[in-house]
Amino acid sequence: MRKVYISGLGQVPVTENWEKSLKELAGDAALLAMEDSGIGYPDALYVGNMMAITANKQAQLGTMMSDWLGFHHKPGLAVEAACGSGAAAFRAALIAIASGEIDSALVVGVEKMTDSPGSEITASLATAADAELESDFGLSFVAINALIMQRYMFEYGWRHADFADFSLNAHANAAHNPFARFQKAISRKSFLEAPMVADPINLMDASPIGDGAAAIVLTSQPLAHNNPQVFVAGSASCTDTISVQNRKTPTFLTAAANSAKQAYAQAGIGPLDIGVFEYHDAFSIMAALSLEACGFAEPGQGPRLALDGKIKFDSDIPVATKGGLKARGHPVGATGVYQILEVTLQLRETAGTTQVKRTSFGMAQNIGGSGSNITTHILQRE
Ligand code: COA
Repeated sequence: MRKVYISGLGQVPVTENWEKSLKELAGDAALLAMEDSGIGYPDALYVGNMMAITANKQAQLGTMMSDWLGFHHKPGLAVEAACGSGAAAFRAALIAIASGEIDSALVVGVEKMTDSPGSEITASLATAADAELESDFGLSFVAINALIMQRYMFEYGWRHADFADFSLNAHANAAHNPFARFQKAISRKSFLEAPMVADPINLMDASPIGDGAAAIVLTSQPLAHNNPQVFVAGSASCTDTISVQNRKTPTFLTAAANSAKQAYAQAGIGPLDIGVFEYHDAFSIMAALSLEACGFAEPGQGPRLALDGKIKFDSDIPVATKGGLKARGHPVGATGVYQILEVTLQLRETAGTTQVKRTSFGMAQNIGGSGSNITTHILQRE
């Protein structure tokens, strides 16, 4: 398989954007990435998106974006893996280039969530769960995560307050990211006193709804103006049971562990080599479980890393360095592309105030469903 380079980046701020349509948002990010790469039209287009059919009454995003961007007669495809759609689209493009089928691709992740009422978005998000076993019984996505968190706290003896530092860290980092949904640090008090959403998940444990798009150009050849070069050293995807109730251990993300293990093996490294990790902190419980599954903490000990300050951008395992899902925001199908873009900025040492220590490897992990479809990428600085 050929080496694949990250050759162009583009993002728009995550926000409530009522000025732009779905295709305009995606188009803005895509044009920025194409301009950044300077290669003109790549060979193919991949779009990561979860809910355009329900929230925007639009299918065919591969065709729509190809048309909007002027990619006429080139391949254009949408990839859906719920909240993991962005990384899944990136991986599809990566495989096509690595195999030699094409030499370049544009990946765009996009989601426009705020045009619809919150109740409709909650129902759309719940389609990522098992309709027969979960959502048909009224379980929202937040509620499923709340049940996992209840069980985790019961098994390992953590209190809700012990999860505060995941959120504090994300918001503190987002304060320096002009593309973030919430550019404000929060206090421990505001975490503890935030309104309850689904016990024990309160407003400050949850990622927000938002509109956003991010795009990346991938090429089989390094482009001279990108210095240092960043390429994909590992990429793996893994599924688990779609319903949480069918899992032997609902408090362990087996799909995250397996995909990370495969990605580490491809890159020839282990967790200690990772200098920055953009994890999928859709809820603070997912932050803890991701750290554990990827080998940064023992099962049940994820919150300890946050409590000890080890997840800060200048510490042992920096996470959510641009705000993460919690504060940069989580426009679901776009998130995986934002994560990979942010890791690239870190490896190139262009991440600004929250720049991590110089490192050769960064990891991004994007979770679809409640741990049911997970894609992990490891990027390497050349
Ligand atoms: N964190 C911090 N503040 C938030 C927030 C969040 N997650 N969500 C909303 N807010 C703020 C808003 O900015 C607004 O502040 P303001 O009054 O100062 O303007 C206020 O809270 C109310 O916002 P609103 O949009 O009315 O919130 P809501 O109650 O409709 O929605 C949630 C809040 C948590 C229910 C919603 O964001 C949600 O469903 N999140 C989870 C999404 C999800 O499941 N994603 C998939 C995960 S894989």
